[in-house]
Amino acid sequence: MSTMKISVQRPRLYIETYGCQMNIADSEVVAGILRQQGYDLTHELEKADLVLINTCSVRDNAEQRIWGRLDYFRAIKRKKRFLLVGVIGCMAERLGEELAAHEAVDIVAGPDSYRDLPLLLDRARSGAKGINVDLNDIETYSGINPERIDEKTISGFVSIMRGCNNFCTYCIVPYTRGRERSRDPQDIIHEMEHMAANGFYEITLLGQNVNSYSWKNGLQTIAFPQLLEMLAQEFPQLRLRFTTSHPKDISNDLLHVIARYPNVCKHIHLPVQSGSNIVLERMNRKYTREYYLERVAAIRSIIPDCSLTTDLFCGFCGETEEDFQQTLSLMEEVKFDAAYMFKYSERSGTYAAKKLRDDVPENIKIERLNRMIALQNKISKALNQVEIGKTFEVLVEGHSKKSKNDVVGRTSQNKVVVFPDKGFSSGQLVLVKIIKATSATLIGEATV
Ligand code: 5AD
Ligand code: SF4
Repeated sequence: MSTMKISVQRPRLYIETYGCQMNIADSEVVAGILRQQGYDLTHELEKADLVLINTCSVRDNAEQRIWGRLDYFRAIKRKKRFLLVGVIGCMAERLGEELAAHEAVDIVAGPDSYRDLPLLLDRARSGAKGINVDLNDIETYSGINPERIDEKTISGFVSIMRGCNNFCTYCIVPYTRGRERSRDPQDIIHEMEHMAANGFYEITLLGQNVNSYSWKNGLQTIAFPQLLEMLAQEFPQLRLRFTTSHPKDISNDLLHVIARYPNVCKHIHLPVQSGSNIVLERMNRKYTREYYLERVAAIRSIIPDCSLTTDLFCGFCGETEEDFQQTLSLMEEVKFDAAYMFKYSERSGTYAAKKLRDDVPENIKIERLNRMIALQNKISKALNQVEIGKTFEVLVEGHSKKSKNDVVGRTSQNKVVVFPDKGFSSGQLVLVKIIKATSATLIGEATV
């Protein structure tokens, strides 16, 4: 009698991540949790037993894309009956039952319920839908070992705080990610040690408002400047970045720490949203145009080689042409190196959706957005032209997508530099002289 060999295949997880960098870090936490349940990551959808879609709710078009994706998975599931599909992240939190009603969806888990995923999976395997969208004011996923999804990258993320208490009137995040909470510094150090030992050369510290980080240690409070200083000293071999910062918390203390440590990158992402005081007040941003400009002046005086990027959006409730002109004039005045630009998208449940009128017509929103983008492209291009002839230390990330003969990396200021490969490896720091520039990329030559 012949014996049959039964090989037990470990189940495979395929994760799609949409939205912000925070979601990339969260997907890695989720992969870490499911690894403990026996799931291996796969990058091939056809091989997956479980698909998770990590979603964003900040603007409506991000959500529309996910609905489209779910229709696609419904078609796949008709052929692959064993496949389980879960929606996680902000959209899961915001829409809960509505998402669960979609034929393709087996699991719905909000940003604070990832530890519950094994249970939700059990429920889904038994044919029911697994839903958990409870928020939790203390969850920071301490003790979870995130599993890296993009194995080739030398640049990773570590979330240091979660949630947001600011309640900007347009923003859904305080409702989908709950209250602000910071992670134990020891836990952060532990995760970074692991990353440093596993091929990472650059780490971006993440949070909705990283600079309002606060950890109480007995009588002592560790705020963001102290945390950053601690990490800069502990990991001199790593480049450190952080995002996103709120203008209200960009203190001189923090600027001095950035200036003092060569391994802290000279780049600040400081969303301004609008240049009009009336609009800023309606947004509940808690600062004025003048305050913001004063902070920009402080950045430039304390860290002269610092680059500055921002988020801006046009067409918020009641925004007049004059208000919009104020945004354009602020852009001209500050000269951001780069900006993420959007048009206002009403999110139900926010203060703006309840109390303000979304009264800027769609065609005007689009027209303003185009003007904003054109201006920023002009500014970015002019600023990049100024870099021609200068030499920067570039951290090599890998080969350029466009040419195998070139490598791509970033300066401390976060500018992308492409230059001919002379046998460089990922993670190497190379001195590069800039010879050409577009609005988005610097082109250079290694000086060695
Ligand atoms: N509509 C358009 N843009 C928004 N943002 C946040 N909420 C909205 C909204 N309702 C933008 C802000 C924020 C970035 C992450 O997204 O500029 O900084
Ligand atoms: Fe949203 Fe404002 Fe919080 Fe940023 S600071 S996540 S824009 S509420």
